[in-house]
Amino acid sequence: MRSIYYFFALTFLVLFHGPVNSQSKNYEKQIDSLLSIMTLEEKVGQLNQLPLSWDTGPSSPEGDKLKDIREGLVGSVLNIKGASKTRGIQELAMQSRLKIPLLFGLDVIHGYKTTFPVPLAESTSWDLEAMENSARIAAIEAASAGIHWTFAPMVDIARDPRWGRIMEGAGEDHYLGSLIATARVKGFQGKGLGSLDALMACAKHFAAYGAAVGGRDYNSVDMSERMLREVYLAPFKAAAEAGCATYMNSFNDINGIPASASKFLQRTVLKGEWGFQGFVVSDWGSIGEMIPHGYAANAREAARLAIIAGSDMDMASMCYRKELTGLVKDGVVPVSVVDEAVRRILRMKFTLGLFDDPYRFCNEGLEASTLSKPEFRAAARDMARKSIVLIKNEAETLPLKTGKKIALIGPLGKSETDMLGGWSVWWDDNSDVVSQFEGLERRIGKENLLYAKGCSTRGDDRSGFDEAVNTAKEADLIILTIGEDRDMSGEAQSRSDIGIPGVQEELAEKIFALGKPVVVLLNAGRPLVFNRIAEKADAVLLTWFPGSEAGNAIADVVFGDYNPSAKLTTTFPRTVGQVPIYYNHFNTGRPSPDDGPSRNFRTGYTDLEQTPAYPFGYGLSYTKFDYSDLKISSDKMKEGEKVEYSFTVENSGKYAGEEIVQLYIRDRFASVVRPVKELRDFVKIKLEPGEKKTVIFVIDKEKLSFYNDELDRVTEPGFFDVMIGASSADIRLKAELELK
Ligand code: BGC
Repeated sequence: MRSIYYFFALTFLVLFHGPVNSQSKNYEKQIDSLLSIMTLEEKVGQLNQLPLSWDTGPSSPEGDKLKDIREGLVGSVLNIKGASKTRGIQELAMQSRLKIPLLFGLDVIHGYKTTFPVPLAESTSWDLEAMENSARIAAIEAASAGIHWTFAPMVDIARDPRWGRIMEGAGEDHYLGSLIATARVKGFQGKGLGSLDALMACAKHFAAYGAAVGGRDYNSVDMSERMLREVYLAPFKAAAEAGCATYMNSFNDINGIPASASKFLQRTVLKGEWGFQGFVVSDWGSIGEMIPHGYAANAREAARLAIIAGSDMDMASMCYRKELTGLVKDGVVPVSVVDEAVRRILRMKFTLGLFDDPYRFCNEGLEASTLSKPEFRAAARDMARKSIVLIKNEAETLPLKTGKKIALIGPLGKSETDMLGGWSVWWDDNSDVVSQFEGLERRIGKENLLYAKGCSTRGDDRSGFDEAVNTAKEADLIILTIGEDRDMSGEAQSRSDIGIPGVQEELAEKIFALGKPVVVLLNAGRPLVFNRIAEKADAVLLTWFPGSEAGNAIADVVFGDYNPSAKLTTTFPRTVGQVPIYYNHFNTGRPSPDDGPSRNFRTGYTDLEQTPAYPFGYGLSYTKFDYSDLKISSDKMKEGEKVEYSFTVENSGKYAGEEIVQLYIRDRFASVVRPVKELRDFVKIKLEPGEKKTVIFVIDKEKLSFYNDELDRVTEPGFFDVMIGASSADIRLKAELELK
């Protein structure tokens, strides 16, 4: 009887699941049929995500793991890449009783084969279209190589540069962060899941991982629900609205509960309020980590807590695989809870078209013709140029003119892998990276470029100093390339000292002592403290980790083929003691004056100015932009109305350039205290020398709204400051608005 039923159910599946190129298609009937023929073990198998080592192939001796796949006890695999490898592993899944295809997941964070700048760097471009395109290209490449799912975008708001993972996000602001989250989700998912060049996106880490106490990775978070909703959940909500297919739990406990066990986050907010139809994957081992958290006594307890809370798939802890069947059989976990999680995962497998053809993403020919296309490299170069922040440019040192002898000095000058930054997919393959040296050499020729390493990014070996100084002596100008290496930011790379590491500052002092012009290239995955360098250098370019096209992009900026336009999306502190420091703080009852150390019982430090080294929104250009002629449609706004702010921006310098014009508001008095400034809009405009453009910002009720103490999104009548400027600290035009 059972086998006849099984036959009909399978026939139904094959005949009726139809075309797949639509995300909105309803697969619920097919899923019902499939669920009805699955054993409990097979259901639990779908909730199990297995890490395989990079080089696992179908015939490698990973014993039980591969056996589990053949027996239908695995729903997804991570860390396998390449059309041929994924095909080989999928073939094993096709030997299972129900032939349910595997999902292949991978951290495609800032590019697959063509590596783009690290996400924090990209965010400083404020160029949503370019970021969407960067994610799009990553998806096209990865999908051609058998990948269905990227564990990106990371949308954690981060206000603490000690936290190494600040590199993976979009900075400290939730308004900009939400727009970037939307752009990246759209980029990864393209025209819709089911297209052969779309990846499922995964908004991570849900939630508030970026608020880890002390910036220590994996650390606890305790915050009000109001702050959580207004700031930390905002980009996650935006991702849900953009149709993000999956979410990943965070490692941290939040308000006393490990995120993977948070019913509030997963059931109340994500699947409830936001109506999310995709599935939630745990972070690596985070379900098992409920034990050291002190929340679950053992793996069985951890599995129960996680599935009840709504974590659908277990990444790597094996708690579900080992415990969930028993929990259901013992009546502790209702099978309906397991069914719901399986349904969510199967829904995505159907949507991707894997039941039509489990190998549809495993086409070696397509992979070979897709990776590293010239147009992808060109986009990576453009994105890298757009992500380089001009921090200082004394006496128009930059752009450099050709014809001078240049010495490139510093540990990162010839480094290739460092240019890729953390979370690059091709970790050890630097064959297609353009180093800084190579990029500059291509631009000015061998005969004009000298090089010495000087020292390493780490340690205290000064033996290369003399050679570096002697090399520098022979040049007209020095480009000093210092900062972090790529392993210094990213996961588990929290640092208590965010200065320039090793003996690089000492090397810099020796170079500055020569009295020649010095341009500093600062490589970093986080805001750094570099006050002395900034003081002594003639020019500083924050290059971050620019990706495959690093050297070309840097040469473009240094020689003025591209005029830098990027602006910081995180505040850069004067000292680590100022951290956390962010632009959208509250005023307090005792605000300090901005221009000096705090005195007379004011908030702040008595030994330090209150302002940061570089504020949110800061970044210079080779040209100059003037703001003038503000016209306001009204200084009052009633329910349902909008107010327009129109003004002129003029390029009064001698280079064409792009300006990121920013709109901030301040709600002067409200039922809960409001930040001194909140970014509410921005526009990036390009102007030729002498050109003027009219910019119009529109303020509506939504832009003035916030979460009140009852957690309702409201606007309250009263007065607002409207501020328009070139950074959060460089306000050029101001107005007052009264909301009636
Ligand atoms: C990280 C995630 C990542 C996962 C899979 C975890 O350690 O926190 O961001 O997606 O590993 O590699």
